[in-house]
Amino acid sequence: MEARDIPALAALERACFSEPWSERSFKHQLDSDTARILAAERDGRIIGLAGLLHVLDEGAIANIAVAPDCRRQGVGRALLRALLALAGELDLASVTLEVRESNLPAQALYLGEGFKPLGIRRGFYAKPAEDAVTMGIRLRPDRDQDSGIRRQGNEETGDEEAGGGSVPSSFS
Ligand SMILES: CC(C)(COP(=O)(O)OP(=O)(O)OC[C@H]1O[C@@H](n2cnc3c(N)ncnc32)[C@H](O)[C@@H]1OP(=O)(O)O)[C@@H](O)C(=O)NCCC(=O)NCCS
Repeated sequence: MEARDIPALAALERACFSEPWSERSFKHQLDSDTARILAAERDGRIIGLAGLLHVLDEGAIANIAVAPDCRRQGVGRALLRALLALAGELDLASVTLEVRESNLPAQALYLGEGFKPLGIRRGFYAKPAEDAVTMGIRLRPDRDQDSGIRRQGNEETGDEEAGGGSVPSSFS
């Protein structure tokens, strides 16, 4: 993503989400060392975007969207694969995301690329209010497991508490 892409990216967000990122949000991400935004371009037009946030070795997909008239053509899958490749280059151990419980197309996309459901975040979304399904993929073995260290969270169910902030550690 480059600064000149920001108006088109914000317009795409408005076409795809009820709570879209603003141009200011994109500018903030562009200036950040811990955010990467990928844009898919066709014939000079931006038709898709995907955003990855990362802290230490944990990544989170912030958004992924394809212009309504360009869907079901493999653009979303290509963006997701590019984002996971980028996560690999950044040596991230895992990538998680939230998705609306009713958003079955996006869930199918993530499941198809190896993400596992991890839990539910109650009331995560507004406009309209809805729970989120949390999903994750492990990109490399958890180094902590070798030393017997466990991070916080329910290892058996992968459940998270509503509004919890940390990346869950169960990705079986
Ligand atoms: C979710 C989204 C990014 C998918 O983009 P896309 O370019 O249409 O997806 P692709 O064509 O690459 O499809 C990849 C897979 O996703 C799933 N999928 C995509 N759209 C689907 C739909 N309408 N119904 C069911 N499955 C769907 C399928 O598994 C598909 O694989 P297949 O074509 O082999 O069946 C797109 O629908 C979108 O922008 N939605 C609005 C924004 C959004 O909800 N983003 C996700 C936020 S978590």
